Amino acid sequence: MRLVGAPAVSEDLLYALARPLLFALDPERAHHVTLETLRRLEAAGLISLLRQRIPEDPKTVMGLRFPNPVGLAAGLDKDGRYISALGALGFGFIEVGTVTPRAQPGNPRPRMFRVAGAHALVNRMGFNNGGLAAFLRNVEEAQFRGVLGLNIGKNAETPLEHAAEDYLACLEGVYPHASYVTVNVSSPNTKNLRQLQDSAALSNLIGLLKARQARLADRHGRYVPLVLKIAPDLDEPGLADVAAVAMAQGIDAIIATNTTVSRQAVQGLAHADEAGGLSGAPLLDPSNRVISLLRQHLAGAVPIIGSGGILSGTDARQKVHAGAELIQLYTGLIYRGPALVAECARSLRG
Ligand SMILES: Cc1cc2nc3c(=O)[nH]c(=O)nc-3n(C[C@H](O)[C@H](O)[C@H](O)COP(=O)(O)O)c2cc1C
Repeated sequence: MRLVGAPAVSEDLLYALARPLLFALDPERAHHVTLETLRRLEAAGLISLLRQRIPEDPKTVMGLRFPNPVGLAAGLDKDGRYISALGALGFGFIEVGTVTPRAQPGNPRPRMFRVAGAHALVNRMGFNNGGLAAFLRNVEEAQFRGVLGLNIGKNAETPLEHAAEDYLACLEGVYPHASYVTVNVSSPNTKNLRQLQDSAALSNLIGLLKARQARLADRHGRYVPLVLKIAPDLDEPGLADVAAVAMAQGIDAIIATNTTVSRQAVQGLAHADEAGGLSGAPLLDPSNRVISLLRQHLAGAVPIIGSGGILSGTDARQKVHAGAELIQLYTGLIYRGPALVAECARSLRG
């Protein structure tokens, strides 16, 4: 087995020391402090302190070679400011964004909450980001040479009837820099966004994006796969519709799932009733259910990337068992630290 990197200090121990300090801070502040610390470590050449022993476990999905199947989910690095630092943590791929054409502040703070008893988060960030131009500058500067997904959305003020214009503008901008592009129609924090998952609206949007993708592939001499990210709150007919559109339009992969608006699993816990999307442990089962149903409807025609509720290597295996070819982490990293990446990679390698 070839191992990439060698840990100088146990990252588990480092995170065990850092976590109480981070959890004493407001979650959004802790998020910022963590990412800035990573960036400084990387700039100082010290990121190898956190570099983990990740077994090589290459996988080809969407025509792309992933060195291991464990990815970073979108939203942790919305502006693509920390790609190089995050890239040093051993992920098999990294997804950044969601970016919108124009900068926007997102919702008022506080807008990120820990539901610590349930190893969960509720967020209503609302696509806070510095806009496409700043995003592209950051992505161009990044030193990362691995698989990079760029996740696109629409501005809050753009009416739904004009949503396609926002997605097309983002696709044009990010295309030459992306390994794949994710079309995010599943955030619960942009009003009515998830209506774009309805059959007719989705078919129209994806049709326009696929046509533009073909033109961009010609222009840049490179085919960049288009990935659709969906919500866990779709019922089975809704999932069947999404699968039908994905197959008819030639979507390259589906990320299942984004956060949930359901609070069934966290009733009565502190912050559970905050508005927004719930992520973390309580999302594992609902998200896996969606993956299993999707797998039946897609019958292998479109690969599934599993996101939602992975907090251990066992969870990662369950996700793959449900039907995911690749997985992505977000909330698990907050509760478990970067050691979770290696734990999942080892567990999936079996
Ligand atoms: C604070 C926060 C912000 C997020 N922002 C985005 C985003 O901008 N775009 C997106 O596609 N998903 C976003 N997500 C969803 C995650 O990418 C992921 O799909 C979801 O949290 C489920 O995975 P998890 O349970 O491992 O966190 C966000 C999640 C959190 C917790």
